[in-house]
Amino acid sequence: MKDRFIADLMTNDDFIGFFMIKQIAIKTGSNRKAYLDLTLGDRTGEISAKKWDISDEEYQTLSKYKPGDFIKVKAVVTEWNQMKQLRITKIRMANPEDPWELADFIKTAPEPPEEMLAYITEQARSISDMELRELCLLNLNINHEKLIYYPAASKNHHSERSGLLWHIKRMLMSGIALCDIYTNLDRDWVICGVILHDIEKLTEIESDENGISPGYSFEGNMLGHIVQGVKLLDRQMSELDFPEEKKIMVEHMILAHHCEPEYGSPKRPLFPEAELLHHLDDLDAKMYDMEDALEKTQPGEFSERVWTLHNRRLYRPKKD
Ligand SMILES: [Fe+2]
Ligand SMILES: [Fe+2]
Repeated sequence: MKDRFIADLMTNDDFIGFFMIKQIAIKTGSNRKAYLDLTLGDRTGEISAKKWDISDEEYQTLSKYKPGDFIKVKAVVTEWNQMKQLRITKIRMANPEDPWELADFIKTAPEPPEEMLAYITEQARSISDMELRELCLLNLNINHEKLIYYPAASKNHHSERSGLLWHIKRMLMSGIALCDIYTNLDRDWVICGVILHDIEKLTEIESDENGISPGYSFEGNMLGHIVQGVKLLDRQMSELDFPEEKKIMVEHMILAHHCEPEYGSPKRPLFPEAELLHHLDDLDAKMYDMEDALEKTQPGEFSERVWTLHNRRLYRPKKD
């Protein structure tokens, strides 16, 4: 196992460590010299890193590095914009003989994926509307294999192995609990909306079986999971002979789940279950990002800026 994890790095640390490349680009600095701009990751998080003033010789080697590669670096931890950053002085590809293992780099949801999928399937089976139930079970069945390992994002919330299942499971638990409080809600629609809302993340994002994502697919970049989801479900519901109103309502739930046009939803929610779906989604993403940021923060201190949370720095209380 490697001995230095991103979450434990402190400013001014001068160290040698192993990382996985998440993003990589060679750019030109204001001094007109080439530099390497990286996002590095391990199972505890991500950190931005730079290697300044690359020589022509280094350029040849470094231009072959790609996301997913494992590297060994010698670096100093600096701070820029209240975020930690690595200034790399030496870099090479990691060897299998080096002291690191794959498990150092794989972040995974806290519950076994088979159990999460069983819970989600059980809720789908409990839907009393036959058509909605069939639609949910169809999608859970055909995507069974991918659901086991897929992350819910390539960066940020739930970007971990089985992150999509974890996201769906917690949203289902919250949604079902809220149906007992807001008795105007139809439980069938809530369950169906939660299970299907992000289903096309399975094609929007690319991922290997460790839940490590190099980014978006071509279709994902061009269309995104909302439009992809509406297309897929439209086809499935036509094949299943859904009545027109029900079909449009399912499509509306997918379409409106990000609520704001700037987040990809062309319509805001127009019925209570669609409104709830948006809040469940937003709540789960925010809670995840908060928990994640505070795990990397010492008691009595503020976290680094979290851009998905309006660049806030969160506070972790002192232990008593
Ligand atoms: Fe979404
Ligand atoms: Fe979501």
